[in-house]
Amino acid sequence: MSTETASNGAEGGVAAASATLTVTDNRTGRQYEIPITDGTIRGIDLRQIRVDDEDFGLMSYDPAFMNTASCRSAITFIDGDKGILEYRGYPIEQLAEQSSYLEVAYLLIHGELPTQQQLDTWTHEITIHTFVHENVKEFMQGFRYDAHPMGMLLASVGALSTFYPEASQIKDAELRYQQIIRLLAKMPTLAAFAYRHNRGMPYVYPDNDLSYAGNFLGMLFKIAELKYQPDPRIERALDVLFILHADHEQNCSTSAVRGVGSSQVDPYSALAAGVGALYGPLHGGANEQVLRMLHRIERKENIPGFIDGVKAGDERLMGFGHRVYKNYDPRAKIIKKAAQDVFDVMGTNPYLDIALELEKIALEDEYFIERKLYPNVDFYSGLIYEALGMPVEMFPVLFAIGRTSGWIAQWLEMIEDGEQKIARPRQIYTGARTREYVPMGSRS
Ligand code: SDX
Repeated sequence: MSTETASNGAEGGVAAASATLTVTDNRTGRQYEIPITDGTIRGIDLRQIRVDDEDFGLMSYDPAFMNTASCRSAITFIDGDKGILEYRGYPIEQLAEQSSYLEVAYLLIHGELPTQQQLDTWTHEITIHTFVHENVKEFMQGFRYDAHPMGMLLASVGALSTFYPEASQIKDAELRYQQIIRLLAKMPTLAAFAYRHNRGMPYVYPDNDLSYAGNFLGMLFKIAELKYQPDPRIERALDVLFILHADHEQNCSTSAVRGVGSSQVDPYSALAAGVGALYGPLHGGANEQVLRMLHRIERKENIPGFIDGVKAGDERLMGFGHRVYKNYDPRAKIIKKAAQDVFDVMGTNPYLDIALELEKIALEDEYFIERKLYPNVDFYSGLIYEALGMPVEMFPVLFAIGRTSGWIAQWLEMIEDGEQKIARPRQIYTGARTREYVPMGSRS
């Protein structure tokens, strides 16, 4: 089964318009011609297949949407078999090498690389919106000192919708643009405030002289120095990590943003749903679980026993496997290389050797080979974050900062897509039907 994003056949495939599927319903002997477009059939075309006039008609049943396209999108292309990832057609390898996170954010949201003037304006507008309302600090203070920063981010992103009520006017392009700038600008501030709250340290206000990644590092790590100066190598490594996490087509959290956004709620509430989905250990929470797993393994000699536990189903090899990539995640390759740049500055991470040995063993083991389980974006990212001095609970928060631009781009595309309506799937009902109410005295 191809794990490619269904494409419009533009690459010399069969001309989609003339293709059809002939379906014979063996219950009635009737035949149906169903059009195939862009490598898909429209689910609603199945409804005509009925046994009689009372019949509701056929639906498709696809738990976890393993084989269902929810939208048409021109933002990110993935070929899972070939390990290809492109943002608006640009290969991730080139963007990681030559671009910056804010330029990639512009590309994802606007569809084209910016001119220098457009990038300067975009950067300036984001830079001057990094502050959050002072009430947000008090809001943050309401959390316990040991509250998980992802939970604090989830709540504070949603809370921003109450500071900008005009954001509910999602049909107004100018108001939408203002919220987009605010979301990109304030996500690092909220993330840093959550980190400082966990540490019992005073919040550090944004420094508009610093770059996007440099300012985030300053809000995290500035202590008593008058001016925080980030190490440019660390600044660049973090910016590359944000690029690598920027978008990934219809992943769980993006689907959450699109689903919640389809009710025409404001973008802060829609992105808060994305943060919630990303928090899960099978998604953006995996990078945190990878480090916890490496800490649990502790030494190389414990790896064979751990692998046995995975095969027995007692463990998951966190950071391995992917719904789409059935090959090496291209982002994992880039992160593995970027890790060395960070280790050159910060000193190597002792768990790197365990990770490399774990990867080597897994890639040679039939259990992982037959399931096409390869390292994904989360397998190495945590090692870099830990080397940068980030606590493991901050790892999914870093993922969320990068993914904010992708969530916004996908939300915008959904808003502007005439085919999209409020997301409301159907179900197969398996429960009881039409029962008489049982008075309390008669219940056993
Ligand atoms: C991200 O969708 C995206 O694009 C996500 C993401 C993005 O940028 O948005 O790429 C970011 O979320 C990366 C994935 C991070 N998660 C992890 O690393 C957690 C560990 N991996 C998995 O739990 C799993 O691989 C998923 C969730 C990523 C994918 O799961 P699928 O596609 O639903 O596959 P599955 O769970 O049905 O597994 C298929 C088989 C099963 O074996 P059998 O039951 O057939 O015997 O592979 C096994 C699974 O048990 N399997 C694993 C495994 N992942 C799958 N076995 C051990 N270790 C694993 N990591």
